[in-house]
Amino acid sequence: MGKMYEGMQSFASQLSFGSDVSLRPEATASVVRAYVEHGMQVQPGNVKLYYMGPMFRRERPQKGRYRQFYQIGAEVLGQSDAPGIDAEVIEMLMRLFEKLKLKGAILNINSIGDKNCRPAYVEKLREELVKVREQLGEDSKRRIETNPLRVLDSKLEHEQPIIAHLPRIADHLCDACKTHYDEVKRQLDLRGIAYQENWRLVRGLDYYMRTTFEITAPGLGSQNAVCGGGRYDGLVELLGGQATTKGIGFAIGTDRLILSLQEAGEGGAPGGLDVYLAWFGGAAQSAAISLSRRLRDAGFSVELPAVEMKFGKSLGLADRLKARHAVIVGDDELAAGIFTVKRFADGSQQKLGEAQLFEYLEASRRAQA
Ligand code: HAM
Repeated sequence: MGKMYEGMQSFASQLSFGSDVSLRPEATASVVRAYVEHGMQVQPGNVKLYYMGPMFRRERPQKGRYRQFYQIGAEVLGQSDAPGIDAEVIEMLMRLFEKLKLKGAILNINSIGDKNCRPAYVEKLREELVKVREQLGEDSKRRIETNPLRVLDSKLEHEQPIIAHLPRIADHLCDACKTHYDEVKRQLDLRGIAYQENWRLVRGLDYYMRTTFEITAPGLGSQNAVCGGGRYDGLVELLGGQATTKGIGFAIGTDRLILSLQEAGEGGAPGGLDVYLAWFGGAAQSAAISLSRRLRDAGFSVELPAVEMKFGKSLGLADRLKARHAVIVGDDELAAGIFTVKRFADGSQQKLGEAQLFEYLEASRRAQA
């Protein structure tokens, strides 16, 4: 932390008005740079890296699209481009979204070919776009020259029927890319992962090749991609590393993920307080302290009042903290070697020994999951 602060301080001291400062728009290129700079190709197996942090893009802000936003990303770098790696990366993502109870997530996949087959396809696309040029909007007209693939991204209503008739990359993949793509799909099937093929999924960044994917989620309006990623086998070489190194990864838009979970009004990791541990009397405090440790070790979230409170006030606070249970430890409980547990959902109250108490809380946790 101290080191980071010093680093920032020395960076800030070098700034003066008029300096150009670059804000990172994404982190894949930075990860690849770090991989090359630190000679990570000598590490055994595939190198798996992750990052979390703010990114900056000069975009027109709207719901789910900000100039500063957050990403959680992961990259796999190594000598293999086996389709099983693509599928495993996607499997990890879908599993994470499932755990977070993100409902309605849809996985879109595509292959955009490689340097052997894509240039010819892009030329074909450009030729077809030139023919319909006058029917296109200004952005698409410009992209005919700059990057015809991006026309496929267009959301303009009147361009949709035109785009529907454009040549599709799937029909122009070389044999090696086609085999790779077919195997990615088979590997997803092996993992029981449902996907939609979307031939228009070309992605906005230049480094992609072969597999591209995006996951959409409900409640986000037009900016509905919570995650995007793909394969970028040439990038390590482009940034000065070994030509044989391959890469694939993704970034989740953290803001959009949270927005989608909030719009659904449910899901998310089961949060809140499992147990409010109300204790009364000095002897009960030490019993409560040791019980709280065992409860926390078992993964329950516990609120333990630091000072003794009156019974009514203590249970009132438990209620206001939206605790699911209050566990009460007083003189009577200590004498009998039991705990009183109150479940707030239905007001029911029971006296249980410690083992039973844990079983009871476990059952309640399972019912909630
Ligand atoms: P990306 O599709 O540009 O990919 O961004 C990934 C995710 O970041 C998007 O799906 C979206 O959820 C979120 N995002 C992007 N721009 C914004 C914005 N302006 N406001 C809010 N959220 C946004 C990449 O960044 C690649 N680096 C992903 C990758 C990693 N590919 C390979 N490895």
